[in-house]
Amino acid sequence: MDTLTIARPDDCHLHLRDGPALAAVLADTARRFARAVVMPNLRPPLTTVAAALAYGERIRAALPAGADFTPLLTLYLTEATTGEELRAAKAAGIVGVKLYPAGATTHSDAGVRRVEAIYPQLEVMQAIDLPLLVHGEVTDPAVDVFDREAVFIERHLAPVVERFALLRVVLEHITTREGVDFVLGARAGVAASITPQHLSMNRGALFEGGLRPHHYCLPVLKREEHREAVLAAAISGDAKFFLGTDSAPHPLRDKHSACGCAGIYSAHAGIELYAEAFEAAGALAKLEAFASHHGADFYRLPRNTGTLTLRRAPARVPDSLPFGDDVLVPLRAGGQVAWQVVD
Ligand code: NCD
Ligand code: ZN
Repeated sequence: MDTLTIARPDDCHLHLRDGPALAAVLADTARRFARAVVMPNLRPPLTTVAAALAYGERIRAALPAGADFTPLLTLYLTEATTGEELRAAKAAGIVGVKLYPAGATTHSDAGVRRVEAIYPQLEVMQAIDLPLLVHGEVTDPAVDVFDREAVFIERHLAPVVERFALLRVVLEHITTREGVDFVLGARAGVAASITPQHLSMNRGALFEGGLRPHHYCLPVLKREEHREAVLAAAISGDAKFFLGTDSAPHPLRDKHSACGCAGIYSAHAGIELYAEAFEAAGALAKLEAFASHHGADFYRLPRNTGTLTLRRAPARVPDSLPFGDDVLVPLRAGGQVAWQVVD
């Protein structure tokens, strides 16, 4: 089988940035995905419905002519978020509220310092059925960076999922066996997104012949056994797991730095990389549900009606892409991806 036609997929975790950066990357996503859950970690963060809706307008204005793409907006949760704002978010069609532990990742300093402090907000979200999207890593410097997801689950996520038994929760970009096991064992309404990098690389990719800043993202790549667990979850057909690229562009100067930013850009091959990983695992037939059904079903949105066709044919990835006044180095830069989008 050299071509594969699937219902148009949704990217359930995407960073589009703003201004010239948004203009530079949006077409890559819109060419492949019908919708994307767009993360709110801008500067300043999207902590109000008004700010999120205005961002949605800027995204729509930046779309290439004729593009068929809908941004699904999110709100940035802080300890000061009011119940009124959450209810307004629900009414405005905002699909989820993102919990960033303060200091865990890019532009997370306005995030949550103490998870218990947002229990009142979670109470409201549960009551109005507004999903919680979680960056699941502790920031405790005493916890090893490779253990931060597992420790977050144990210390914070498990208690939240138990206490708010009807709250819908996405553990974003899972990277570990513990993440997979937690979601598998959890009650209904608990799901996880999975990135292409965590399907295809382990932490060795950070140090392949030298330090590889373009393989650095958060949560950081893990050991091979964890990659295998995440891959098994993705190809399992279980509706709790769905596609979220976490494509996170940063200008080259911020990656090639003494303190480089976390984030991997993958939107240029945002479905092709998954096709490659699923095929390598002998599970191409499972791609459509993972990419096009499970996310829509979780968010209670209609499944997309259009289709996307991929062809198995190697495509070269450019060394860099234009990105405002700098450039962006995409995943696989200078290398190849085994699949292409043809229609
Ligand atoms: C993301 C970013 O750059 O916004 N970076 C990343 O490494 N994934 C933030 C995030 O999702 O953690
Ligand atoms: Zn992200």
